[in-house]
Amino acid sequence: MDHKTKPQNRSSRFPGFYKLDLVQRHEKLDEWCRLTTDEKWTLKKETLTAELADVMIENAIGVFSLPIGIAVNFQINSKDYIVPMVIEESSVVAAASNAARLIRENGYLTAKSSDPIMISQIQIVDSKNPQTGKAKILERKDDLIRLANQQDPTLIDIGGGARDLDVRIIDTPSGEMIIVHLYVDTRDAMGANVVNTMAETLGPIVAEIAEGEVICQIVSNLADRRTVNVHFVIENLDCLARAGYSGEDAARRIVKAYHFADADPYRAATHNKGVMNGIDGLIIATGNDWRAVEAGVHAYAARDGRYRSISKYYLDDNNHLHGEMEIPMPVGIVGGVTNIHPGVKILLKFMGIKSGTELAEVAASAGLVQNFAAVWTLATEGIQKGHMTLHARNVAIFAGAFGELAIKVANQMAHEGRVKYDRAKQIIKLLLLKEEEENKKNDT
Ligand code: MEV
Repeated sequence: MDHKTKPQNRSSRFPGFYKLDLVQRHEKLDEWCRLTTDEKWTLKKETLTAELADVMIENAIGVFSLPIGIAVNFQINSKDYIVPMVIEESSVVAAASNAARLIRENGYLTAKSSDPIMISQIQIVDSKNPQTGKAKILERKDDLIRLANQQDPTLIDIGGGARDLDVRIIDTPSGEMIIVHLYVDTRDAMGANVVNTMAETLGPIVAEIAEGEVICQIVSNLADRRTVNVHFVIENLDCLARAGYSGEDAARRIVKAYHFADADPYRAATHNKGVMNGIDGLIIATGNDWRAVEAGVHAYAARDGRYRSISKYYLDDNNHLHGEMEIPMPVGIVGGVTNIHPGVKILLKFMGIKSGTELAEVAASAGLVQNFAAVWTLATEGIQKGHMTLHARNVAIFAGAFGELAIKVANQMAHEGRVKYDRAKQIIKLLLLKEEEENKKNDT
């Protein structure tokens, strides 16, 4: 699709969204996607009841809440999105919204996903002859795929199913093992359940063919056949000028910050954490398994034998800044919690998502945009200035301030550059004393 064409009928540019109160934000969301009365109600109250929690997990004792924010301004493949994020860390939603605005106004963002192919693994040990075992399994490949597909006729009806199978032999301290990979198109589901069922059906048969013993039969979270490529370009570097650095200087510093992350695993872990800041909140908001996504992204970042930056930054001959990333993204919009949790349905509606692959593209885009926001800040004004203002508010609330008072305490701590619980307590005391004295004066 040509990224410059805009077949757009609604815009995710929500200027001043952050200045609205909760009720006004709900009204804006209603304008964006017409909420039903039920949906408005669900949005206002705690969406997951203790009764529902009790059927979701064992030994449930209740539910635990986290904030839901909406990152605005996203335009991906010329389509506008708003991105719900369930996250406790202040500054992530604002940083993502700001960077998404910068990219749409000064360049573009595209994302492309592969087919939703999950890998299921079968481990065979103590085969009499692993090489012969491997050959025999491959001879029976078509039968095995057919058998796998008999496990889920619905998946076949909607165009998914097992597509291929291959076999590796690996060397381990327990001797050679035959590892079978079954590749399954899980369509709009994350698919762990269906591929686990298929693996458990094939496991004993494969063990018999290879004259060995089956141990593990389970999905691989290194979903490297289910990836998204995301790419943005900033054509006008002036927009990156910040903290006394020109746009061009800022861009060069961004590229150098990326080189650091790519060369040093200590930095790569933090850099990639910044990517996951943009992804995890959306994965949680859509009822998907964020541990699976985390595991896959970090394993993929180490796929050449060393843990590296998962994203890339470079300047081209036209002096345009490019950000790129390829990551596994095993997420779905049907099955599991997505069908049960009332909040998830609304959040998916906000996004206007039509398929699991579209959700994967938005998630990867949010990760890259968030990473760009963090690296741009690190490479220019440093992270603490912005972080501290928001962190100061949390510290002020923790120390007992609320409402207007919390904002005053936070502003003073940020101004002093001393964001500490004890200092917040002192400022609260001083401000309350001052208020009391003023009240007395007014009374007399
Ligand atoms: C903080 O949650 C994330 C960052 O540390 C990411 C980074 O260092 O790139 C700011």
